[in-house]
Amino acid sequence: MPRTVYVNGAYLPESAARISIFDRGFLFADGVYEVSAVLDGRLVDNAAHLARLTRSLGELHMVRPASDDEIVAIQRKLIALNDLREGIVYLQVTRGAAERDFAYPKEVAPSLVMFTQEKIILNNPAARSGIAIVTVPDIRWRRRDIKTVGLLAAVLAKECALEAGAEDAWMVEDGHVTEGSSSNAFIVTTDGAIMTRPLSNDILNGITGRAVLRLAAREGLRIKEQGFTPEEAYEAAEAFLTSASTLVIPVVRIDGRTLGNGEPGAVTVKLRRLYIEMALAG
Ligand code: PDD
Repeated sequence: MPRTVYVNGAYLPESAARISIFDRGFLFADGVYEVSAVLDGRLVDNAAHLARLTRSLGELHMVRPASDDEIVAIQRKLIALNDLREGIVYLQVTRGAAERDFAYPKEVAPSLVMFTQEKIILNNPAARSGIAIVTVPDIRWRRRDIKTVGLLAAVLAKECALEAGAEDAWMVEDGHVTEGSSSNAFIVTTDGAIMTRPLSNDILNGITGRAVLRLAAREGLRIKEQGFTPEEAYEAAEAFLTSASTLVIPVVRIDGRTLGNGEPGAVTVKLRRLYIEMALAG
């Protein structure tokens, strides 16, 4: 069955979907996006993703293409049309198509594109084995709190990781880890504290990571919202990353150093389990 996607009001087979070559998302990366997980056919923590979309749009003075309720209706229809049980729904808003000019175009309607992707999330083998990451310099712009489609630095970071034989990259700025190429970064120190960089313009306010921190607090775990260095990460008892499309993934090797016994750590495994229980409970 060909995938049905959504483009500016129309539900189309993916081969028939079209966007103008003048779309500012294509020409300037002048667009924002969101990725919501789908588990058991249902969206996970979607309201928080839409709240972040509203914020991203506002920060870039971009016109809203549809209300939250309308977006949810489209997301649900795509899930149904594509019979998606597990995976993600991607949505992208751009400033629309206009003659190429750096200045915002006047009275141009924004573009709204959405599609589904099947993905094994619950039984992701990386959740059992853990992954290796490498650190790379964070060469991104200074508004990483806005979820823009300007992802080239993340693409390069990921590619660098793969070339080094690792699965992903953590980015480093001023000696401290900012976040993953498409995830938030966490360590668990040998005295049991969960450390992650505090929210600021330096990182994306990850919806999954925030939910995980709330679960950790509920479990009475100690949380230190404080940046950490790669060296502190090498010495950590555990490390993990979070994102909508992977939930919680253990990190077992950083820059070639094995953490603990090289197995996913107990805190990480527990937080992944608690997150999944919460997500499946709706
Ligand atoms: N990326 N930091 C960055 C740079 C990200 O791109 C992402 C998510 C996150 C985690 O945010 P959340 O928990 O809200 O998914 C942090 C998505 C999954 C992507 O680009 O595919």
